[in-house]
Amino acid sequence: MSSVEAVSVSEAPPRKKFVEELRSVSMKLHTREQARDGQKQPKQPEERSVSKWEPTIDGYLKFLVDSMLVFDTLEKIVQHAFYPSYAELRDTGLERCAGLAKDLKWFKEEGHAIPAPSSPGLNYAKYLKELSENDQQALICHFYNFYFAHSAGGRMIGRKVAEKLLNKKELEFYKWDGDLKQLLQNTRDKLNKITEGWTEEEKKHCLAETEKTFEMSGEVLRLIVS
Ligand code: HEM
Repeated sequence: MSSVEAVSVSEAPPRKKFVEELRSVSMKLHTREQARDGQKQPKQPEERSVSKWEPTIDGYLKFLVDSMLVFDTLEKIVQHAFYPSYAELRDTGLERCAGLAKDLKWFKEEGHAIPAPSSPGLNYAKYLKELSENDQQALICHFYNFYFAHSAGGRMIGRKVAEKLLNKKELEFYKWDGDLKQLLQNTRDKLNKITEGWTEEEKKHCLAETEKTFEMSGEVLRLIVS
């Protein structure tokens, strides 16, 4: 090998791990009011800064119920593992269903009526069930975005609602067993392992689904402020 070839090979930037690519696409789909790296113009109420939100208990309860349905659907999909790769995503420690069930029990004991799931959550759950059996690349995109969004923006929302409506009570939804940073990193590693054998086409298809994750999670989030 000539010295010129040796230089060009050593200077080629290492390809990003796939989860980093997923994250970059996702960050661009935030608005600047949601996150520093966001690039989208806000159109919907949930795309405005969380500090400007005027949440209501009724709206927040609808959001918790629909979120629980979506998390429950994802948790069943990985348990059932129609595609063997889903089984890698069991017991990540990011599961939210059990905590949400405790929170809803607490709200009930406090005298609040717990609503039935509404169309944003029902539509999302149905969509995920269909994807899980016919499009594993798209399903993995939703898995990543739904769990990771909750650990980032989701916690900002939790703090805001707790301050405004819950006398600062911290819900179980926002508590993880163990170090959250480590749980997230372990899950990134698993996702990188699952996607490592994918073709370029499959990776592109997964990245392209990110917009749909914002559309469908956005409808669930909107319940808090509508
Ligand atoms: C990360 C805010 C909605 C997916 C973040 C970050 C913030 C944020 C501040 C961290 C940025 C950083 O690391 O520099 C928000 C707010 C939202 C919102 C305020 C709505 C009110 C969403 C939605 C999705 C999403 C709807 C997709 C379903 C993600 C993902 C990350 C992220 C995947 C990366 C997490 C990581 O790397 O650990 N968000 N976000 N976010 N958000 Fe959102």
